[in-house]
This record gives sequence, structure tokens and C-alpha cells, in this order.
Amino acid sequence: MTGLVIANWKMNASSAAVKVFADKWHGMPALTGVETVICPPAPYLSAVAAAMPAMGLGAQDVSAHGVGAFTGEVSAEMLRDLGCQWAIVGHSERRTYHGESNQSVAAKASAVASLGLNPVVCVGEALADRDQGNHEQVVSEQLRASLDAVDPEKLVVAYEPIWAIGTGVTASADQANQMHGVIRAGLHDMYGRESSQVRVIYGGSVKADNAGELFACDEIDGALVGGASLEAESFWKIAQAASAGSQ
Ligand code: PGA
Repeated sequence: MTGLVIANWKMNASSAAVKVFADKWHGMPALTGVETVICPPAPYLSAVAAAMPAMGLGAQDVSAHGVGAFTGEVSAEMLRDLGCQWAIVGHSERRTYHGESNQSVAAKASAVASLGLNPVVCVGEALADRDQGNHEQVVSEQLRASLDAVDPEKLVVAYEPIWAIGTGVTASADQANQMHGVIRAGLHDMYGRESSQVRVIYGGSVKADNAGELFACDEIDGALVGGASLEAESFWKIAQAASAGSQ
């Protein structure tokens, strides 16, 4: 399976920063065997698309609704119109700070997939769940409840343990690989043989120096990268590790 490395810039960008990133990115050797995607804040989608047309383009969130009176929301159709092929849904920061439930995540994922875009559905346990030994159960339940009638061919699942996001603490390759196996088993229960088309990527303090070890794991198909994706060279090194891992 081709590796997939997605940059989640979160609420970090400016017109100048997009230009600096693009200039540096274009100065780096082209990579094969890996798909790269940038998810900038929504106001910068067009700037990223114009500056890096060969890069995949994604949103960090999307509305579950179509058109209408939903102040502040951005629909999947608008994202598609701007050239997005991807949308992250259910990131733990949205679940925590914006009260997103599994149900609303499932509705967003369906809205994205129904327009032919790829939803990147995030799941992951809190530290307390892991300490209590409930992490497999918590993530399996979250996965089941966050997916509703999404075409497996379009679907990406991102396993992002909350305790590893932005903390500098990465799940060990073994911990990540083991949980990816649990997610794969859950996907198999839902989709049967078609579940083999779903890419399961890891997120949580992925950096250039730990990416190789993660991508060497059988169950890890790529990464969702926050902090280390803001700088072109470090994102390129992570993508390069995924490209080497897929050879
Ligand atoms: P991080 O963020 O790489 O900064 O830990 C990952 C994410 O939240 O998607």
C-alpha cells in the first residue's frame, strides 16, 4: 500500500509561511511511493493549492451539513470546489474543545465520503484509558461509533493516542502497531474483506527521527503529523521515511 503522510498545520499559517514552506519543499528531491497531503487552516486552502499543486489538499474539519444557515461552517462541497480531496474529521482537539461526539464525527465522515472525498477519521484513547488497560476497548468503540456508511475505499483511519499529541511523547512502535492491529480487526468486522483498502495511519509526536521505526511496522500505513509538519524539511524527511518504508 502506498504510504500516506498528512500534514495537520492546525491553527498555524500565514501567506508568508505558505510561501516559505512551498519554496523549501520545491527545493527538495521529489519522492516516490508516498502520497503527501497538507491540511492548512481553511483560509489558506487556496494559497496552498496554488503554491504546491502536486501536493494533496485537505481540510482540518468540515460541516456535516450541505448549504444553508450554519454560520461559520464550511461544507464538503465547498472543500471539493477549492480542490480538497481529503478532510480530517474527529480530531481529538475538536472532540475536546468543540464537544464533537462520535455521532457528529460519523455524520461528517459520511458527508465527506458521499462527495467522493477521503475522510481521515481520528480515534485515540486518553492516558487514563491506557493506564486502566481499557485502551483497546475505548478505541474499538470509538471507531465503530464514528463510522457510518463510509465507503472503505475512501476511508483513512488515524490512530492518535491523546497522550502523544503535541507532547513529544510518541507511542512506541510496538504500542502503535498493536493498536493498529486492533483497529484493523474492527474494520474487518465492519467491512469484511473490503477493509483491506482502508489505510490506518499513526499520529502523535511523529518526527523525522522516529518516523522510520513507525513506518517499518506492518500495520502502519502512514502518519498524521502536527508540529513536525510546519517546516518543509522536517515534513519531507518524514515523507521520505514513509517512501523508504513502502519499498
Ligand atoms: P503532533 O500532532 O504531531 O504535533 O503531536 C499530531 C496531530 O494532532 O494530528
